[in-house]
Amino acid sequence: MTSRYELSEQFLDRALAVIPLASQTFSKSLVNYPRGAAPLFIERGEGAYVWDVDGNRYLDCVNSLCAVTLGYCQPEIDQAVATQMKNGVSFSLPHRLETEVAELLTELIPCAESVRFGKNGTDATSAAIRIARAATGREHIAVCGYHGWQDWYIGSTTRHLGVPQAVRDLTHKFDFNNLASLEAIFANAEQPLAAVIMELMNVSYPTAEFLEGVRALCDKHGTVLIFDETITGFRFDLKGAQHLFGVTPDLATFGKGIANGYPLSAVVGKKHYMKWMEDIFFSGTFGGETLSLAAAKAVLTHLKQQDVIGDIRAKGEYLLNGLNSLIESKALGQLFGTAGHPSWSFLLTKETNEQKYWQVKTYLVQSLAARGFLCIGSHNISAAMSYQDLDALLGAYAEILPACQQMLADGTLPQALQGATLQPLFKVR
Ligand SMILES: Cc1ncc(COP(=O)(O)O)c(C=O)c1O
Repeated sequence: MTSRYELSEQFLDRALAVIPLASQTFSKSLVNYPRGAAPLFIERGEGAYVWDVDGNRYLDCVNSLCAVTLGYCQPEIDQAVATQMKNGVSFSLPHRLETEVAELLTELIPCAESVRFGKNGTDATSAAIRIARAATGREHIAVCGYHGWQDWYIGSTTRHLGVPQAVRDLTHKFDFNNLASLEAIFANAEQPLAAVIMELMNVSYPTAEFLEGVRALCDKHGTVLIFDETITGFRFDLKGAQHLFGVTPDLATFGKGIANGYPLSAVVGKKHYMKWMEDIFFSGTFGGETLSLAAAKAVLTHLKQQDVIGDIRAKGEYLLNGLNSLIESKALGQLFGTAGHPSWSFLLTKETNEQKYWQVKTYLVQSLAARGFLCIGSHNISAAMSYQDLDALLGAYAEILPACQQMLADGTLPQALQGATLQPLFKVR
């Protein structure tokens, strides 16, 4: 039998021979895509679509883990990059694009008085933590959400292999929308906090009391408040989720959509904190690489001129409304639900038995992929998606979700799985 994913399968073996996990990014690996029942390697993308190495086309609901907001190969952005490429990529002195993009960020983001650039979101969050530790002379930090792969954060998760215990002991987790859980950390006077770092929103909307409470606690204790806007920035609101939710942090971090998939991140913030950057060490050969900065300049200019943020929110709302109606009309609410912001929404699976939960997740990825949708549980909307694309996705859900609920109820779901079943991941949100 010829598999729809035959070349993906073959390429996986080749990649695994030279690349552990066969991917540079955890979430793009086999942990999210069931071997034998989903594509594993992408060949190219255009607009809202990507093509796998077998030539199958998908509406991409992952959009490079929220990095792509405008769509793949957006002509305006690619043109800006191509023009810059003719003039050189990395130089021996800073390029003026660094200042130009920094100016755009300070103009847009409420807390941004000055800016430094990195490549991945982790560069920016780690820099923000180092600034906070330098500025306060304290070592402990409180975290809420996902903040990247570095020791100071990942040590607080179950994936802490290789992180020294001494580092792990400095990081304390608190729960979203639960101010008491943060107060409990502040209450330990022997562990004064240098920083509180948090995502402003992922699955749930923040309550005003929670965000204002966090701000007040940080002010009271002289702790630096960092909003991790790696995903929310340039997706929820042109001026950041800090503008949408009306609370201003001391520092904030951006990445992902800042350059529509070109590798750029930024730590921004109030001058008296950012000034520490002159003394702490935050430096990388490619920090001022110009192609990504040219892309960011074009992206930010485009976002200022066109209401892309409003467009992806409206499209996301359309999808969420359709999905909620489907769940209600087909009485699927015991198994499925929705959550999140329209531009980054989630199809929740409420199954509590872990084995069955992963069978449902696997079936969804498999069934969506078979119908031409690359989807791993979230809808990361891009402006390139059309309402017809979303109707097609809703049509697929209308077939898949009732069938899944039925098979789960009658115990036949395991037989419907064509490939490997996804395994429990470490959970950060
Ligand atoms: C909220 C948040 N912070 C930080 C990061 C880390 O960014 P990166 O993977 O680019 O290092 C991510 C990545 O998913 C993220 O979602």
